[in-house]
Amino acid sequence: MNIRLISAILLTNFFLLACQGESDKSDASGTVSGENQDSQPKNKVPVEAPEKLPNDSDIVPSWLDSQWVPPVSLKKFGFFVPTKPLTHGKQVYDYQVNLPLWSDGLEKVRWVFVPNDETVAFKSESPWSFPRGSVLMKHFVDPGTNRFLESRLYVHRNQGWQALVYIWNEHQTDAALISEAKTIELADGKTWLVPGPEDCARCHRSENPVLGITSKQMISFDGIPNEFMDELSARQQLTGYKNSENLQGFPALDHQSASLEDKARAMLHVNCSSCHDGSFSFDLSWQVASDSLIGAPPQFGSLGVEEPALIKAGSVDSSMIWLRMNLTDGRRMPAFGTSRPDSAGLAVLKDWIESLRVSDDTPPEDDDTPPEDDSTDGSEDCGGTDIFGACLERIISDSSS
Ligand code: HEC
Ligand code: HEC
Repeated sequence: MNIRLISAILLTNFFLLACQGESDKSDASGTVSGENQDSQPKNKVPVEAPEKLPNDSDIVPSWLDSQWVPPVSLKKFGFFVPTKPLTHGKQVYDYQVNLPLWSDGLEKVRWVFVPNDETVAFKSESPWSFPRGSVLMKHFVDPGTNRFLESRLYVHRNQGWQALVYIWNEHQTDAALISEAKTIELADGKTWLVPGPEDCARCHRSENPVLGITSKQMISFDGIPNEFMDELSARQQLTGYKNSENLQGFPALDHQSASLEDKARAMLHVNCSSCHDGSFSFDLSWQVASDSLIGAPPQFGSLGVEEPALIKAGSVDSSMIWLRMNLTDGRRMPAFGTSRPDSAGLAVLKDWIESLRVSDDTPPEDDDTPPEDDSTDGSEDCGGTDIFGACLERIISDSSS
């Protein structure tokens, strides 16, 4: 038994005793004495030593075996010990994204397990590629209580990625596998729908399910790689990243110097482009300029708005993208995974849409050629909000004729 393993056992033992209010009894013998405290009432923290001590022993990805059956208990993966706060083992990285997906205000903890001697392939334009054996994890936390609610896993097996969902127990020691969606209650009395494993592909639609581990999310708006990238590089588990590329990531929604457009488009990319990548009428990926959406008529209804457009320059009240994000009924967007409007995201989107105007230099200079006929159609209003609408087209053709 090596020194680190012994100290890990001691540490665990210390936690157990501390939780029982008996920290004064901790001994230095290295034996797991927690089991002998039988005069103590059984408490929340399991007294047996955890199956694995993730801070020391290497995890062998048993899920690469074709016979593997997902464990009913999340703890069995060996990624964490149920201490408070929950601690993961040394082979597990944790990371944050610049701009998270809105999930009704729930907080998230993101972990990645990468097998030893394997590497992650950095991509500047698309989601990174993870080796077989990797496990991507996202834990959802109730901000009212700081309790773990559910954990979503993508397990990279030989036959592809498998989605798993676990719901945490009351004592926060472990989480149990679920096979279909479940509604749970949050601290504020509202409910949260935990998706079933079948629901994941609504958003994770590609063979590579990675959505948030991209250069846009891992490199800051100011061009600095995050700690996850540093740690992967330090452990020689990242390939393909060149510092010289000068990549710029998404700004956070409250970034001080990023433009409204940068923030709004980053927000739309994260929350919408998993579905709207050209499917369902349009593309909200950051790679695609938003011009084509401005003034474009909706294909899926107008919500009773008179002059609807996907984005109507200057007016959120006619902009389907804003309106549908602000709904709470069946027409709400995103179409799955949230039920409460994202006030911070909506505020940025509103400020951006309201800042869009017909710019002063777009109308043709027709000082010396007065419009021949401005009264053919009194119903058309060239007031100048809709820069890509029919009205502008008429001005252009008028002036060139
Ligand atoms: C409403 C769309 C949506 C649904 C449904 C959804 N996800 Fe995701 N998921 C995302 C987005 C967007 C990200 C990246 C942004 C983030 O991490 O906040 C993500 C991130 C993740 C990550 C972190 C790794 C990565 O891809 O960035 C895991 C793991 C994950 N999801 C698992 C699942 C599983 C398992 C399910 C089904 C139970 C699921 N997700 C359902 C949209 C969704
Ligand atoms: C889980 C997949 C999914 C996500 C994520 C999603 N949408 Fe949609 N969206 C759809 C589907 C399906 C339709 C077509 C059916 C309908 O209109 O409800 C649609 C339609 C729309 C429409 C109507 C388009 C038209 O031409 O009439 C708008 C606007 C829209 N979505 C905005 C958004 C915005 C904004 C987001 C992100 C905040 C978003 N959606 C996220 C699936 C999604």
